[in-house]
Amino acid sequence: MKTVSVSAPGKIILTGEHAVVYGYPGIWATTDKRLLVSIKRTNQKLKIISNHTSIDFAKYSVMKIGKLIGKNVSSLEIKIKSTIPVGSGMGSSAALAVALTGALIKLNDLPWELKRINKIAFEIEKQQHGTPSGGDNTVVTYGGFLKYQKQKNSIPKFDKISSHKKIKNLLIINSGKPQETTGEMVAKVATLYKNNQAQTNKIFSKIGDIAQKLYHHLNMNSKIKTQKLIKENHKLLNKLQVVSPKAQKIIKKIEHIGGVAKISGAGGFLDSSGILLAFHNKPKLLTHLAEFENLNTIPVVLGVQGVRVE
Ligand code: MEV
Repeated sequence: MKTVSVSAPGKIILTGEHAVVYGYPGIWATTDKRLLVSIKRTNQKLKIISNHTSIDFAKYSVMKIGKLIGKNVSSLEIKIKSTIPVGSGMGSSAALAVALTGALIKLNDLPWELKRINKIAFEIEKQQHGTPSGGDNTVVTYGGFLKYQKQKNSIPKFDKISSHKKIKNLLIINSGKPQETTGEMVAKVATLYKNNQAQTNKIFSKIGDIAQKLYHHLNMNSKIKTQKLIKENHKLLNKLQVVSPKAQKIIKKIEHIGGVAKISGAGGFLDSSGILLAFHNKPKLLTHLAEFENLNTIPVVLGVQGVRVE
């Protein structure tokens, strides 16, 4: 029996998280941490082996994809292997949704259409996160660096960014896995929005401006002070209450030694906030701080290929 293997990368959000749910632009990049799905047909019932996700959720996803592509998924053996940290802002659920969709499409000899893979993966992301923007699954599908903007008609709008060499001196620091899920954090911001629409919209709009500036800088060489923007972005995220006191403390220490940092992804408030993107003109100082504070760092290459058959 043939085995089909498909992999998808993890992601980070450079800027725009949360505001993107309300239609403002955000900047995404894939990372070289990947998730691999291998599938073969068997003559027994569906079996899922995973080092990554809850088997129940993987099962739900398989059934849903089967329904959407109109194929029987009851006698398969599916193996899921991943190096993407789970629930920390690095796109592990989007990578699962995209790789699983790609693998089931390939196994059934259906056309390899990124647009379709992305659309199906978005349906799964909705089940997992409530009202996601669709940015995670889009970058994981298409790869590279993207400016993404959610549209009212639900057709994703994104631009590939080609000149991305200017993202320098970045260190990813893991502040720890948040207690809350992405869906819960999106809902928390929705409550804030509901209770104070004008004020929250102002914050979103300022975040959107930062994303737009960063996009012009990356794509068209406009001169900006990236670190100043990241610092500003952190302040705005703090106002959205998605940065926990614990993560705020780490970011203050980074600022104290002359760097800047922000959460990336949904964040977390009760305990940890997932990964932090930290920048410093002298990156060694960041590494030393992380060592001194006993914080894990995650080395990544950004802008790698999206979903692919292995
Ligand atoms: C999740 O990675 C980022 C959020 O903006 C939600 C979303 O875009 O779906 C918090």
